[in-house]
Amino acid sequence: MINYKNVIANEIAKVLKIDVTEIEKSIEKPKGVANGDYAFPCFRLAKELRKAPPMIAEDIKTKIELDKKLIENIEVVGGYINFFVNKENLASEVLQNISETKEYGKSEIGKDKNIVIDYSAPNIAKPFHIGHLRSTVIGGALYNIYKYLGYHVTGINHLGDYGTQFGKLIEGYKRWGNEYNIDENPIDELTKIYIRINQACKEDEKILEECRNNFKKLEDGDPYCKELWEKFKDLSLKEFKKVYDILGSHFDSWNGEAFYSDKMPEIIQILEKSGQLVESEGAKIIDLEDKNMAPCIIEKSNGSTTYATRDLAAIMYRARTYDFDKALYVTSYEQILHFKQVFEVAKLLGLPEKYTNGLEHVPFGMVLTKDGKMSTREGKVIKLEELLNEAIQRAKKIIEEKNPELENKEETAKKVGVGAVIFNDLANSRVKDEIFDWDTILNFQGETGPYIQYTYVRTRSVIEKAGGVPDIKEVDVNYLLDDFSSRIIKLIYDFEETLIQVTEKNEPSILSRYLIDLAKAYSNFYNENKIISEDKNLQNARVYLTYAVGTVLKIGAQLLGIEMPEKM
Ligand code: ARG
Repeated sequence: MINYKNVIANEIAKVLKIDVTEIEKSIEKPKGVANGDYAFPCFRLAKELRKAPPMIAEDIKTKIELDKKLIENIEVVGGYINFFVNKENLASEVLQNISETKEYGKSEIGKDKNIVIDYSAPNIAKPFHIGHLRSTVIGGALYNIYKYLGYHVTGINHLGDYGTQFGKLIEGYKRWGNEYNIDENPIDELTKIYIRINQACKEDEKILEECRNNFKKLEDGDPYCKELWEKFKDLSLKEFKKVYDILGSHFDSWNGEAFYSDKMPEIIQILEKSGQLVESEGAKIIDLEDKNMAPCIIEKSNGSTTYATRDLAAIMYRARTYDFDKALYVTSYEQILHFKQVFEVAKLLGLPEKYTNGLEHVPFGMVLTKDGKMSTREGKVIKLEELLNEAIQRAKKIIEEKNPELENKEETAKKVGVGAVIFNDLANSRVKDEIFDWDTILNFQGETGPYIQYTYVRTRSVIEKAGGVPDIKEVDVNYLLDDFSSRIIKLIYDFEETLIQVTEKNEPSILSRYLIDLAKAYSNFYNENKIISEDKNLQNARVYLTYAVGTVLKIGAQLLGIEMPEKM
């Protein structure tokens, strides 16, 4: 499609004789229709050109030559030059494009770029909690969007499957394993064993010693310890996969922390050579005082490695294996300091700067209920599988009330319930804490997943009433020049740019907000305009626009990980 910003920037560049990309970057999109579709601010030029911005603007305006078919009007307001896109041409560009491709907005701009996304990463033998859900959802959306833009993406589930807690679990299982049915209910039962062995460790130093030995044995490859560790891991994964199945999550690699156990000695060696690794109370640390941070512990006083060391080994491995341009880490903001430390120490690994510059933490906020932290009545963590199933049940109840005749209610309820939970995770700027409230997230009229699905379903039923999508050749865009239609067309035109903005900030909420705007624009259009009409030309144009809206809503929602029902 035409890139208007680029067309405008090229013309201005000719007049000013400065770099096009610089100009393109400074072109803005004014809010509200009065100031046009694009605006070029002349304030920054004032100093160099020794002229007042409005004069510069006038001057540029008279000198540029823009095709009236593309830009129908140019106005100077203050220090701005405002450009008005030719609506008719824009409408036919956009609809033509929709008709030609199944994958509207898809692009190749990421070709030859490698992105690694580290997300989800629950801990073995511990519950998969609501924070991991957020990581899974945000990471998954980024994964889909980067891919759609042509990047080569690797999704990694960096499972928490290593550390002294496994020595404890092994010891507990050795002692009381036969009392617990861990095959039936692995996470709950392993948690009970973990609590019990922790208690025993507190009471008896010798037991703690045994636990530490077990972990050491596990690191050294002892068959019994390894077998148990594998059993715990398999059972936990089986549980986690139930959640991933409901969400439709996908990972290219399941290399968890344990995968790096044989890759840490090299890291320690390199750090030792760098001369920066120092002893402190028996531990080996990198001092980060000059960076105003607590030290990064590389090896504990008992010789065992840390979460940070494993992340350093993972950086090395990922640089070598995936040659990444960007490596993203999606976790809650509680780990901001951890990643700051790790990224700082990574500079000592002797890797090309490309890699250390590509490391990026993508933090997100907490999930809270209206009255505080998210937990069940007994104060236990909420189980995700239960939460998702509750969402599905609640969605089903609403559907039963609204549309008792609907076929395959189960399937629709799943899409609506799960979609509501996913959308809620992505609805606002990710660093904000999120409020989890059933009535809000399932409100069909709110800024929610179900609202987007509902709008999509509406587009489908309009098309059904009209007897199908008209051929693009039957569409006369002159019927789509009113404000309601224009607003929609402009939004659809902006879709690809919206996806690019998501990747620039690693902020899926930019796409969520966009979908809400598009759904609202369609609702306004629908309320103001009669679509099914005596006038077939008018009907064809409006039905086609309806089809375009549905197409973009569906692609956008799928990129966020939300499935669209055809009816609801
Ligand atoms: N397992 C960790 C947790 O539950 C998250 C791991 C994130 N990824 C990483 N490379 N450190 O908090």
